[in-house]
Amino acid sequence: MVRPVVLDVDTGVDDAMALLLAARHPALDLRAVTCVGGNASVDDVVSNTALVLHTCGRPDIPVARGAERPLLEPPQEARHVHGRDGMADLGWVRPDVPPDPRHAVELLRDLLREAAARDPSQRITLLPLGPLTNIALLMRTWPDAAAGLAEIVFMGGAAQTGNATASAEFNVWHDPEAAAIVLESAAELGVPVRMYGLDVFYDVRVGLDRARELVAVGGRGPVELAGRLLEFSCARFQAADATIGDAGAVCAVIDPEGLSTRRLPVRVELTGTWSRGRTVVDRRDWAGDLSHDPHGVAPAVVEVALEVDGGRYADLWLSTVAGEHRVAEQ
Ligand code: BDR
Ligand code: CA
Repeated sequence: MVRPVVLDVDTGVDDAMALLLAARHPALDLRAVTCVGGNASVDDVVSNTALVLHTCGRPDIPVARGAERPLLEPPQEARHVHGRDGMADLGWVRPDVPPDPRHAVELLRDLLREAAARDPSQRITLLPLGPLTNIALLMRTWPDAAAGLAEIVFMGGAAQTGNATASAEFNVWHDPEAAAIVLESAAELGVPVRMYGLDVFYDVRVGLDRARELVAVGGRGPVELAGRLLEFSCARFQAADATIGDAGAVCAVIDPEGLSTRRLPVRVELTGTWSRGRTVVDRRDWAGDLSHDPHGVAPAVVEVALEVDGGRYADLWLSTVAGEHRVAEQ
């Protein structure tokens, strides 16, 4: 079965790795890509996203510009991680194509309403890989569109650790209110949610030697792009390998067996002196006496990824993005 998917991205080095996989894997039908400000400004995100899709030979996929900033706070970009242009400063030729005329949230609404009107196999799996601003706006503005969703698989949060702060993962930290709205709305609207967070994010890795082989293919195609993104990440973190990052969430849709998840209640910390933006993942055994807890169980129960078969997902990504059959196409 080919699964219809939409990626919501803040491209972003590892969002680019996710786009390379989603645009090229035969089990996925990438219907559109919506953009949100996060790692870089939304205009750079649109440009970076178009660059990746064009390089993959998929300029047909609509790309829409979405929220410029979080719901409450000013944007806080991560160019120190992703480069001045937000995507590794590769000097790649940028296609001169305008984005879809609709706002990202309108494009999502239209695609989801269309999917809701068709048979259930056409429901869309939505993969938010950046701050959840667009998705929160969608769910609050047009909650009926949720009927077109099969599932939300988002990269964000963590049960254990943070990266933007000691407590909070970047995507949730960047727009905590949006993340809280998405979890709450999904629970209300009956949309299943899987959380691909930092507990697994760093565990799917490709070595620098492999990255160099991909770069050597040349031709400014998807294989060279994949290699250059990995090389950039290795250099940035002075490491001999790099995570495929957000691309792991795409792997989770293609190959759910590679991931261990548990259904757990999740809340987003919206205040907190040191912990704003943290996902509070409740791993308590509710069989015990928890009557003293004033908060009770969170209404949003999420499939939280706790372990991943990193080698399996790295192979899936490589064989799709840069496998021998793909290399032969260059
Ligand atoms: C997330 O933040 C961004 O830097 C990455 O693209 C990823 O989505 C990891 O915290
Ligand atoms: Ca991202």
